[in-house]
Amino acid sequence: MVIPSLIEHKRDGGALRPEQWAELIARYTAGEVPDYQMSALLMAVVWRGLGPEELAALTDAMLASGDRLRFDGFERPRVDKHSTGGVGDKVSLVLAPMVASCGVAVPMMSGRGLGHTGGTLDKLESIPGFRTGLSLRETRAQVERIGCAMLGQTPEIAPADKRLYALRDVTGTVESIPLIAASIMSKKLAEGLNGLVLDVKTGSGAFMPQPERAIELARTMIGLGEARGCPTVALLTAMDRPLGRACGNALEVEESIEGLRGGGPEDLMEVTYALGAEMLLLVGAAADREDARRQLREAVDSGRALETFARIIEAQGGNPAVIEDPGILPQARAVEVFRAPRSGIVSAVEPRRIGRAIVELGGGRRTVEDEIDPAVGFVITVKPGDPVRAGEPVASVFAGDENGIALGLAALGEAVTIGGEARRTPLISHRITAAGVEILGQGR
Ligand code: URA
Repeated sequence: MVIPSLIEHKRDGGALRPEQWAELIARYTAGEVPDYQMSALLMAVVWRGLGPEELAALTDAMLASGDRLRFDGFERPRVDKHSTGGVGDKVSLVLAPMVASCGVAVPMMSGRGLGHTGGTLDKLESIPGFRTGLSLRETRAQVERIGCAMLGQTPEIAPADKRLYALRDVTGTVESIPLIAASIMSKKLAEGLNGLVLDVKTGSGAFMPQPERAIELARTMIGLGEARGCPTVALLTAMDRPLGRACGNALEVEESIEGLRGGGPEDLMEVTYALGAEMLLLVGAAADREDARRQLREAVDSGRALETFARIIEAQGGNPAVIEDPGILPQARAVEVFRAPRSGIVSAVEPRRIGRAIVELGGGRRTVEDEIDPAVGFVITVKPGDPVRAGEPVASVFAGDENGIALGLAALGEAVTIGGEARRTPLISHRITAAGVEILGQGR
């Protein structure tokens, strides 16, 4: 296999054959193809796209790069959720323990921060001691015991995605429907699921900002899932403003705990309940949507969901005392309030600007080798449409030093726009299944 020829072929609009994708991915995973060649090929895919046969071949090659979770003899239905990536999107941390507390198993494999978006693994690892590199055996045992494990790609499971994901994060090769679809579905199909719910983000902070493109991404992933025996449903949710208030790894863990306690920002909880209801329905664990929501609410109100999260943390080496004392989480050395520069209606809180600022503050990666600072980020208490008065505190910056504070305040100055028309897409706009697209348009 002559890799430069494959890159040129793809660059010039050609298609690689399934056996070429299989060999390429196997050799890349084995460390026999250098990152610089794979980066060039990924960029060619960003520009040229993949036909259905190529996409299927890439997904299957990535899936075949590792082992799969096997749950032979395990009775409980298994379901998972995956987001296409957002800012302030800590839904997984609230949702996984909630759904697991309703008697359904959630073997959840997530990713790290990608581009300007945050990642569940980085968030979880801000809990002192928390380990996301579980083996297959550990994962299965934990899912059987607690109903949920929250892990990352490892050399055993989805290793191709582990390497490609890290490479795409720092090479401007995230925004591509086939690359996102293959990344997500190769991980999820390795989990041995009975159903998968996708949270496909749309709006300026999403990888696919246009709703039509987000729907195309959803349909692509649903097609891959259904063709491989995994019933798959997607909700399109808003990412034209950050979800919830906290943006940044440790800050988001704190807000997730608040959500599991029954508090939590309204938008975060609405998206969480909607996805949770889809998960329970998909595997037949609820009679209807109302019953699903009732079960989820009861899991929170009874304290079972929070207790499940504490058990997950403990099982994965983390300090469960964080539930009672979020002060255990890494704390920013410098904190500063951002005040509204004028009175008026908030017209935008631009998530991409906030996400990029978190990376600049050290909360995300600029190179594959970067260590992140889990304490940095923002808490933004206003949403588009909210009235504010000049001088009113609307956000806080959490940084490592005074330079970081200056950078964070400047980012907020650009991201938070006051005056003009507030544009806000519906929080949950569409439901997409193999049968078609349903317009929901609910929530603000
Ligand atoms: N989530 C993933 O797992 N992969 C992507 O490419 C984007 C979001």
